[in-house]
Amino acid sequence: MVEKPDRNLALELVRVTEAAALASGRWMGRGNKEAGDQAAVDAMRLVLGNVAMDGIVVIGEGAKDEAPMLYNGEKIGNGRPPIVDIAVDPLEGTNLLAMGLPNALAVVALAERGAMWSPGSGFYMEKIVVGRAGAGAIDITASPEDNIRNVAKAVDKAVEDLTLVVLNRPRNKYIIDAARKLGARITLISDGDVAGSLMAALPDSGIDMLMGIGGTPEGVITACALICLGGEIQGRLCPQSDAERAQLIAEGHQIDRVLKTRDLVKNDNVFFAATGVTAGPLLHGVQYFHGGATTESLVMRGHSGTVRRIQATHQFSKLMQFSAVPYATVEA
Ligand code: FBP
Repeated sequence: MVEKPDRNLALELVRVTEAAALASGRWMGRGNKEAGDQAAVDAMRLVLGNVAMDGIVVIGEGAKDEAPMLYNGEKIGNGRPPIVDIAVDPLEGTNLLAMGLPNALAVVALAERGAMWSPGSGFYMEKIVVGRAGAGAIDITASPEDNIRNVAKAVDKAVEDLTLVVLNRPRNKYIIDAARKLGARITLISDGDVAGSLMAALPDSGIDMLMGIGGTPEGVITACALICLGGEIQGRLCPQSDAERAQLIAEGHQIDRVLKTRDLVKNDNVFFAATGVTAGPLLHGVQYFHGGATTESLVMRGHSGTVRRIQATHQFSKLMQFSAVPYATVEA
């Protein structure tokens, strides 16, 4: 019998994403995405290990042989209930951090054991994401034109007033072309479709929908956020090579299956935290000052639907007396 999580684990998870953001934020603009990612992974692993739970990483840094920490299948926590699935993206937008661009995030989500869909080796997924007002109006099997028109109608806007986020990739050109032909507004992002999806789901962000082919793990993480925020995601695996397709079929995936929010995460027992690493329209980035830093995080629970923004001030001189996270390299 699975014990259902009953404490608000998101309030514990925010310490995990804050630590990842504080550690990786040092690498902003320094052109080294691997170092930024490693700093986030190390800090996240350290703090996540202290959360009392029996967790297993479902969406992680990859297979065990490539990922020494937070690999898919890794057990995390003290082995006591709640028994949960974990999705991590210690640094969502490695290039964004390396280039000092907006919207790099540290992200963690938890759900009941068995509730998260596991993408296996599925790397790419077509996605459409909308907020509450657009839920019910999307259909991944329909054309981009139909989706844009239907979402505009649902959110009570003219198509020319609608704003889409699209990951700027040649593979998404058909969506960009369709949106331009219809006269919708587009924000092209170079990376970070979790932030793009969160903006599509949050009211008053100025973004109405996200469309395009992006990462599959990011799709599952987005579904966790949407369970908390309301809204809808539809996705469909989109292998980018014959080898990826063959591998997915060998793993038992049905390539053209439409994956809806509830297919990606089965129920409302979901906890989500994201902390801004670089500043963007979604969250403030880490701001360092002598002896400390400030962070801003989004902290949410699916069961209650509570969405918090948490601003924190961190004092490195105190933290470094008892925490193994290397918040500062010089003495505070
Ligand atoms: P990383 O943080 O792993 O660099 O991923 C960033 C990202 O832009 C995701 O937000 C997106 O889903 C995916 O990469 C798109 O993949 P690709 O860069 O291969 O098009």
